[in-house]
Amino acid sequence: MDHPPAAARIAELREQLLYHNYRYYVLDDPLVADSEYDQLLRELQDLEEQFPDLLTPDSPTQRVGAAPREELGTVVHNLPMLSLESLYSAEDFERFLERVEREAGVVELVAEPKFDGLAVELVYVEGALLTASTRGDGLVGEDVSDNLRTLRTVPLRLIRTEGAPPLPPRLEVRGEVIFPTAAFRRLNQTREEAGEPVFANPRNAAAGSLRQLDAQITAARPLEIYFYGIGQMEGADFATEEELVSTLPRWGLRVDERVRLVVGREAARDFYRDLEAAREDLPFEIDGVVFKVNDHAVQAAMGERSRSPRWAVAYKFPARQATTRLRSIFVSVGRTGVLTPVAMLEPVPIGGVTVSRASLHNIEEIERKDLRIGDNLLVERAGDVIPYVVKPIVEDRTGAEQIFHMPEACPVCGTPAIRTPGEPFVRCPNLDCPAQLEGHLGHFASRYALDIEGLGEKLARQLVSTGLVRSLPDLYDLTEEQLTALERMGAKSAQNLLAQLARSKQTTLPRFLLALSIPQVGEHVAGLLAAHFGNLEALLASTPEELQAIPGVGPEIATSVHDFLAEPRNLAVIRGLLAHGVQPAPVPRSAAAAGPLAGQTFVFTGTLESYTREAAGRLVQERGGKVIGSVSKKTNYVVAGADPGSKRAQAEKLGVALLDEAAFQRLLDETSGPPPEPVALTLPLD
Ligand code: IVH
Repeated sequence: MDHPPAAARIAELREQLLYHNYRYYVLDDPLVADSEYDQLLRELQDLEEQFPDLLTPDSPTQRVGAAPREELGTVVHNLPMLSLESLYSAEDFERFLERVEREAGVVELVAEPKFDGLAVELVYVEGALLTASTRGDGLVGEDVSDNLRTLRTVPLRLIRTEGAPPLPPRLEVRGEVIFPTAAFRRLNQTREEAGEPVFANPRNAAAGSLRQLDAQITAARPLEIYFYGIGQMEGADFATEEELVSTLPRWGLRVDERVRLVVGREAARDFYRDLEAAREDLPFEIDGVVFKVNDHAVQAAMGERSRSPRWAVAYKFPARQATTRLRSIFVSVGRTGVLTPVAMLEPVPIGGVTVSRASLHNIEEIERKDLRIGDNLLVERAGDVIPYVVKPIVEDRTGAEQIFHMPEACPVCGTPAIRTPGEPFVRCPNLDCPAQLEGHLGHFASRYALDIEGLGEKLARQLVSTGLVRSLPDLYDLTEEQLTALERMGAKSAQNLLAQLARSKQTTLPRFLLALSIPQVGEHVAGLLAAHFGNLEALLASTPEELQAIPGVGPEIATSVHDFLAEPRNLAVIRGLLAHGVQPAPVPRSAAAAGPLAGQTFVFTGTLESYTREAAGRLVQERGGKVIGSVSKKTNYVVAGADPGSKRAQAEKLGVALLDEAAFQRLLDETSGPPPEPVALTLPLD
């Protein structure tokens, strides 16, 4: 495509994508299937790659892409972001209503949820998102522009829907970033299983996710935004709150569907009561109702205190707390071997849900709060149904309460538990522990480990529950007969899996080390260990001191690796794998050449049949090659799969070598064998 038609098509695609976003996120009424949306986005991406001068930061392709930063900058709010007076009783609320009535003659309020998230301000100039910042102290906030851009519910450009007022040349719009409750629960579960600290509530999770120096992390978290107010606005004016909340969505800014104009005291009370009743069913946490005087002239007349307006209040819901007795502490073993103490409570209703257990996370938490078995505890529900132990009621103690100690051995398999220095967590170090085997199998087979296609979560679960696999090496004893007896496993899939298993035996040392689920050993560390020791036997013979001396391996990782290898059951697993023919190719210690494809650059376009883009890129990287995004004269190869994009044409034009999938495969075969250098591990894990 030539430059002018490309520019026109790019503009058209952007407009379409913007509108589809609006239909999806603001109206919750999409016009197209997700796949159609993705197709438009891909077309735009391809065109922008081909014509980089047409790329603008407000393009829908530009949500993620900013590089990590050293620190978050600051942003001064043009108008201070005020806080709200909190009311906790019906009497206080009546007094507020009286004040409003006295001032305005009528009670006319906009009522909306008080979101329990993080307040932010976004600045749109000529319709394009310029900056985004947190509330901070109300006057100065942190610059979270790159992070906020990654939220799908944040439009990078405003739109003007039919009949909407013209877009203001400058708009400062305010809203709340929230972490949906269901996703919050999943995040904490994953973190707990991985031995990482959990977030106390969705608000902390939202704040922690947004205030990241690396926007890629924010992008991976399902944050959302609801808009509820404005700061400075040029070239437009609202006479009422109602006008404000009804106009924002028509500019593409999402407002919560529960926001209402309430007229009269009774209606205000009803709104509060109804929303409290609906609280449990909302997809996000709220902690009260915000009431704002509707008429902006009345707002101005009522004025402000030093930090909060007189014309608005937050009428809080009662805290969801109760006291109950700690009957005992049960220790559960997660998929990654972390031993987690769980409070077994006398069942108690809190905000409509019966609570009978609460995670205590780790021993330090128990010691810090001085929780004893038999104590009465103050328990709170933080974020949907997750109960949280606030503190013991020390006044209630009789002296019969008992101090809790973590067990010395894994309660599931009896292996002595290990505490990694610097971590408050205790782990069961046994690779074959029944509580962990399923997770370990999945990890063993994952793409960047032994890459056994077809061995996913479901199959891992079946293999463990049927007893076919009790230890990792058992995988290599599986027969077609055993496999076809499993659910949803035909002869063809069984044969494929066996072929994959056979193929997986030829692997590399970094992949093998990664596959072992050694705590704290991800791709990067696996690569460091492999490069340093060169072969498995040398690693097995290493001392903690030697491990610690490797640049990039700190004392904690060193201890973790050493403890893992010191566990006889783990050694048995490693020996068992080798005995079954698994061969982690050693890494030559002369790291002179950087792989058979060193210095070669590759561009991928279209869809490959046998590999995803990531997998293909990985294979190139393992051989020392580099994958880049766009074609230039200096590019060595363009690999074109089915339905190639514009890059194929580009390659032809520039005379760059074109490889179809078969030719690419041949190149891979010719250059296979152990990479002489540890792989530059830059691709994200899925
Ligand atoms: S309006 C002058 N509306 O509450 C009005 N705030 O205490 C100021 N908040 O930092 C804010 N939901 O984080 C407003 N529907 C809502 C809100 C809301 C939550 C938070 C916001 C702000 C704090 C003020």
